[in-house]
Formats: sequence, C-alpha cells, structure tokens
Amino acid sequence: MSQTLKPFADRVWTYAGETVSFHGMPYTTRMTVVQLESGEVWVHSPSNLTSELVHTINQIGPVTYLVSPNKIHHLYLKDWVCAFPEAVLYASPGLINKRRDLNFDRELTNSADDAWSTDLHQVVFTGSKMMEEVVFFHKVSQTLILTDLIENFPTDHFRGLQKCLARCAGILAPNGKTPLDWRLTFYLGGKAEAQQCINLMLSWQPERIIVAHGNCIQQHGAEFLKKSFNWLI
Ligand SMILES: [Fe+2]
Repeated sequence: MSQTLKPFADRVWTYAGETVSFHGMPYTTRMTVVQLESGEVWVHSPSNLTSELVHTINQIGPVTYLVSPNKIHHLYLKDWVCAFPEAVLYASPGLINKRRDLNFDRELTNSADDAWSTDLHQVVFTGSKMMEEVVFFHKVSQTLILTDLIENFPTDHFRGLQKCLARCAGILAPNGKTPLDWRLTFYLGGKAEAQQCINLMLSWQPERIIVAHGNCIQQHGAEFLKKSFNWLI
C-alpha cells in the first residue's frame, strides 16, 4: 500500500494531495477514498493524480464514483475521468455551469445516491448564496466527510501576515471553523436553513471528521462539530 494513501478508519483512506494557492494562501489538500460495501471505490474531492496513486487505489477496488463536493473542488476531475473512464462523475451544486468542459453524469442532491445510500448519509449544506457543500457521513466508521465547512490548519502552517489572516478567518487548529467570509454570508437570510443542516449532521453523532484542509479529528467528532459551529447553533 502506498505511504501516501493512508488508512483513516474502517474502509476509509485519505490522501494528501499537492498544496494549492487559494487567494495567495498555501492550502494543503486532502482527498477521501471509501470502499463501499459493494466493493466499489468512491472518491471524494479527487486530488492530483499520479501513476502510483492509480496503482494503489486499484488495489482497493474498481474506482466507480468520482464526487466533487463543492464548486471550488474540481481542479483534477479531468485527469480522473481520463484515468477511470468508466467511473460515474458527480457534480456539486453550481459546478455543471462552471465546468462546461466536463461531462457530468449526475448532480449531487440532498439524498444519498442509491449506489452508496447503504454506506453514506448525505446532505447539501445550504443557507449561503456564495457556495453550497455536499456533506457525507460514513456510517460504519462514524466519519463525517467535509471539505471547506471546517478548515483546521496547524498553527505553524502559515507565517507572518498569512497567519494573522488565518487566525481572523477562524481556520487555525484546534479551533478550525467555516472561513469567516463564507460564514458571514449565512447571516443574509440563510441561517435557519443552515441550522437545520448542522442539526442533522450532529444527529449522526460523528466520532471522526475528515477535512480537506488541515488537521482531521480522530475522536469526539460531535463535540468538535458543535464547537466549530457555535456561530450557527
Ligand atoms: Fe477547499
């Protein structure tokens, strides 16, 4: 097994993708891979693709589902479609219009697709006109799979002004949150809607939380989630 595709929980792996520049800030990235009960492989927020990664992931099972969880996590989809042409490509809300060069097979909704509803809960986190994110919960491992709804960078990741900005944005561990600019947009009439989403996520009682940027949570996930979303609850 590759050193870079790491076991995270039962049937769940994470992969540290390359660091990308986001508004000039160095963002580490993380992809999540789930082996469904069917044996098929579900890939969340596909990262930069290497031949080693293709080889490793093929050992887990056939890559069948490629999932873009929000409209800013789409950079490497084309590479994955080329490498796994049989896989079904899912768009997050708003992405079909943004990436007209890609032939999406389906758009993610508030209900888990039949293909993975045995394994995963799913909800579209709504309430902001800026962006929606599709949230997943892997039932067997009690793992909540997030992308940008919580960013939780190690405190030594940024330096100087960038560190000040990250602190102001609320994206430093152990107090990682939804970035401030996105958080503020929920106060423009969508707070109640978002509260319903977070209440549903809390009802799943996650033990672990995977985030795309920064430190994941290995235990007491529900407590962390409640703390992280205290601006909303
Ligand atoms: Fe992100």
